[in-house]
Amino acid sequence: MNSFSAIDWQKKIYLNGFWGKTPKVKIDIQKLEEAARQVMSPKAFAYIAGGAGTESTMRANREAFEKYKIIPRMLKNVGERDTRIELFGQTLPAPFLLSPIGVLEMAHAEADVAVGRAAAQLGVPYIFSNQASRPMEEVAEAMGGAPRWFQLYWSKSNELVASFVHRAERCGCKAIVVTLDTTMLGWRTRDLDIAYLPFLEGKGIAQYTSDPVFKKLMDEPATGEKAKREISWQAILGLVSMVNRYPGNGFFKKLRSGLPVRAVQQFTSIYSNPCTTWGDLKFLREQTKLPIILKGILHPDDARKALDFGMDGILVSNHGGRQVDGSISTFEALPAIVETVNEKIPILLDSGVRGGADIFKALALGARAVCIGRPYVYGLALAGEEGVYEVLRNFMTDFELTMGLAGCKNVSEITRETIQ
Ligand code: GLV
Repeated sequence: MNSFSAIDWQKKIYLNGFWGKTPKVKIDIQKLEEAARQVMSPKAFAYIAGGAGTESTMRANREAFEKYKIIPRMLKNVGERDTRIELFGQTLPAPFLLSPIGVLEMAHAEADVAVGRAAAQLGVPYIFSNQASRPMEEVAEAMGGAPRWFQLYWSKSNELVASFVHRAERCGCKAIVVTLDTTMLGWRTRDLDIAYLPFLEGKGIAQYTSDPVFKKLMDEPATGEKAKREISWQAILGLVSMVNRYPGNGFFKKLRSGLPVRAVQQFTSIYSNPCTTWGDLKFLREQTKLPIILKGILHPDDARKALDFGMDGILVSNHGGRQVDGSISTFEALPAIVETVNEKIPILLDSGVRGGADIFKALALGARAVCIGRPYVYGLALAGEEGVYEVLRNFMTDFELTMGLAGCKNVSEITRETIQ
């Protein structure tokens, strides 16, 4: 039985309306995005909402879900519904997790900590971002014993990779999700048009500036362009942001140390490694006994390789359409991967999940769970921790009602026959 009842939450919303209060965190996903756009800075919104190129991958993700239809079945006694699933030895209240999303300070000052607290209230696992605005230790502490995982970008320094993984283990993360699709940043038109990358202002690099190995790497020369430029107000503001975000007290002391600038330079030169190959996974396997999940798999042959290399899970993802324009949608990629994997390891899916029906359809096609991304960031922008909590409750409720109204009492009844 569910401890977070869909009926109670739905009733609460209607009763609030009776007393004159409508949800600030909109239920309709497009209205939610629009409300968030109004409170976020144009730069922040572009970074979160945008995708690669013409954003056709983002559209394809949505269209693919809409091509499939649920066929509800009647008179199946769905008075008691159970949305829980088992994943890597943990019981999740519903078949979804929170995707790792970087630079959350652009949505709300409490950033990752607010998300962690909201996720912890519900027991929904939060996948900490490698590009977080707050160090993982701080978020883990705010979450108590609630479930969390860690997302890893493969840096040019294997020593740093190992350090991140070991910190994640100490933080109680129960899995490592290694993102394979961002060995370089995609061609992100919205960000490029305003020529804005938050990392250059020292945002979203808290996992690095809190890391002992990264601090050592900061003594080494960073590669990349160091052209002389005229000082502009924009650059001064960027520098102030960089210094403020660097750990420690004393603005001028930090400025004089040169460390904040060196951190950004070193980050931009090592954050990701386009030379990574399948063979490198061996190194990761040696670092940890935690389950390793490959994020970004879209081809069945890559799924087969994940099995060959002893990986524990696959996250079918196109990074929310942020990396390759014109890419296959995750929902279209899913069936061939499910067939190849043949239940040997769990398959998760993200990119374009916008409601309970999408979760249902992904499960019907063979995913064990999905990950939710942008919508929770919009909740965060609108109302901090409470906003994230509401978005998560809305997803849980929508899923539970969809499942029950389709005639399924629990997740195992969501079979291939429930959709066409
Ligand atoms: C980083 O993961 C990004 O998508 O911006």
